[in-house]
Amino acid sequence: MPGLKAGTVSSGSGAGSTSAAEPMADSPNQELESFEISPLMLFPETSGWFSVYLKVDDRLVLYAKGPDGFTNEHRHRLHDFGVDKVHILTAQKRNYQRYVEDNLGPILDNEKVPLKERAEVFYSASLSLIQETFEEKLPGSIQSDHFQRIKDLVQGSLSFLRKGGSLKALTGLINHDYYTYNHCVNVFTIAAALLETYGYKRREMIDFGLGAILHDLGKSLIPKEIINKPGKLDADEWEVMKTHTTIGGLIIGDHSSELLQTARMIALSHHERWDGTGYPWGKKGEEIPLAARIVTVADVFDALTTVRPYKPAWDADKAVKEIVAGRDKAFDPAVVDAFLALHEKGVLDDIRAKYPAE
Ligand SMILES: [Fe+2]
Ligand SMILES: [Fe+2]
Repeated sequence: MPGLKAGTVSSGSGAGSTSAAEPMADSPNQELESFEISPLMLFPETSGWFSVYLKVDDRLVLYAKGPDGFTNEHRHRLHDFGVDKVHILTAQKRNYQRYVEDNLGPILDNEKVPLKERAEVFYSASLSLIQETFEEKLPGSIQSDHFQRIKDLVQGSLSFLRKGGSLKALTGLINHDYYTYNHCVNVFTIAAALLETYGYKRREMIDFGLGAILHDLGKSLIPKEIINKPGKLDADEWEVMKTHTTIGGLIIGDHSSELLQTARMIALSHHERWDGTGYPWGKKGEEIPLAARIVTVADVFDALTTVRPYKPAWDADKAVKEIVAGRDKAFDPAVVDAFLALHEKGVLDDIRAKYPAE
């Protein structure tokens, strides 16, 4: 029977020894790489293709062999002995990430897991899925199971993102080095907060959320030399860069589902500008769908507050001023007002704290 011997595991540290936990027989287990997670992340009733280890005197000791090895009894024993960290082998990280993705909703809604930890789970699960989506070398389309996975991710994370404090917990994690997939997750989190202020229904939030997270999907087919050029793009390169909108629309494709139509519309329209100076069509004002006008502001804010190959990260105040300067020009004035209200409520305070004005 799996279990911990009473009195052998020190409270709260996960250190100690086990009676029935079984060391890995055929490996010098102290050399295996692992990462630690809270046992609260593991749901006994779900299956994950990974094993759970304890760290005992710097050695990894097998505690529950996957899949399905982690039972309610395992969980209760960890709880009874105050063990708050368990380990997963780095070699099984992908399986663990897939498990997290499949169980994201229940994990993020579990109030017992500290908010900071849930924010980390949301961010790393989104990043790994978006990275995988962007790195798929598919010439013209995105596989439908990817859409489903991203939709599930958006669906599983929206109620978490709606809760007070969650965006604050996330902003400290938002990576200010520029990678397209980091940017997509950042834009999704900021756009979700903005969309919330418009009182959209859950169904619409999921549609728009998927669009926000995939808005720059077309960049996956723009040459890396252009995406990562350490300087301003020349006129020809800029023309290529601008095609990421239409390429994104092509990759998502023309579907009858409202969800994918919304995602396609956002990929196509997020560089249109309120005064008609944007691309690809030069639409103006309310000709541009509202969800795209909202994603535009989140997109520009994240771009400004992020290190790009040609510029440092701006602090949040400077970026907000720039957005306010574009009110009624580049940006929908009502969206700028909603953004400003969000900023004044302190939702983006952590960004400001992280990047104080020079
Ligand atoms: Fe874009
Ligand atoms: Fe973008």
